[in-house]
Amino acid sequence: MEIAETIQSVRAEVKAAHEKGKKVGFVPTMGALHIGHISLIETAVQECDFVVVSIFVNPAQFRPSEDFEKYPRPLKADLEICKKSGVDLVFAPTSEEMYETENLTWVSVEKLTEGLCGHSRPAFFRGVATVCTKLFNIVMPDAAFFGQKDAQQAIVIKRMVADLNMPLEIVVCPTVREADGLAVSSRNEYLSAQEKKDALLIYKSLQKCREMIESGETGTASIIAQMREMLSRCPAIEIDYVSIVDVETLQSLEQIRGRVLAAVAVRLGPARLIDNIVVDAGKQ
Ligand code: PAJ
Repeated sequence: MEIAETIQSVRAEVKAAHEKGKKVGFVPTMGALHIGHISLIETAVQECDFVVVSIFVNPAQFRPSEDFEKYPRPLKADLEICKKSGVDLVFAPTSEEMYETENLTWVSVEKLTEGLCGHSRPAFFRGVATVCTKLFNIVMPDAAFFGQKDAQQAIVIKRMVADLNMPLEIVVCPTVREADGLAVSSRNEYLSAQEKKDALLIYKSLQKCREMIESGETGTASIIAQMREMLSRCPAIEIDYVSIVDVETLQSLEQIRGRVLAAVAVRLGPARLIDNIVVDAGKQ
């Protein structure tokens, strides 16, 4: 496995792979790799001949009040995981390498970024879309792999790639969960044992939503009320949003129809946690 810190060396490695006719797969990450990231890497390894993982905590997607400084950066362990998982090249640049001069050019995806996480993290998706554009331009992958765990991010990136005719395929992989249902996240590291237990209510509220839809409930207001009621059983949970939206447009729905995305974001102690499920009401 090669480790590259410069844009130039990534380009050289990928160029060589492309010249050998290899399909290049790319998994962008911020490191602190866990089984969620590993599942993306494994899918990339299965579907591609040369797999690149980037490890870069992108300052452009954090607000000053957020956890940029304390975001975990266990680079050595991450490199071990990459090596074991069959990664060919890790790109681990410095901030200076990625943002050499003050960044004046931004990629903003409209509408899809207004609701859900866009509401409480206004510049977040601009930071994500910009860094992904930069990374796609550096790595030039044939396919890039994203997790359903960050559903809005995956939808935004898919739309950006389509709107800007970027020549790569976006593959969205299922959310990996702990045995008890908690969605695996680098930010779970911030949680105490008690908070990890409390966090289970997030997935439970999403399961409640699924049950209600499956038993024929079509009004989103009553489903959301029940989900909020479940979450508020734990005083430590501060709800950011509980939303039921169209899975493609991310517009809020009053009535359940077709495939819907139920999404939850909460603050719990030091962490902001998100999770979601897709329910196909057409199948009821
Ligand atoms: P990060 O949070 O490190 O996540 C990297 C990728 O792993 C994302 O596509 C995310 O959806 C996926 N992922 C995280 N937890 C997962 C889980 N439990 N199951 C499945 N996939 C999971 O998302 C980012 O980094 C950044 O915003 C990035 C895209 C790298 C841009 O900076």
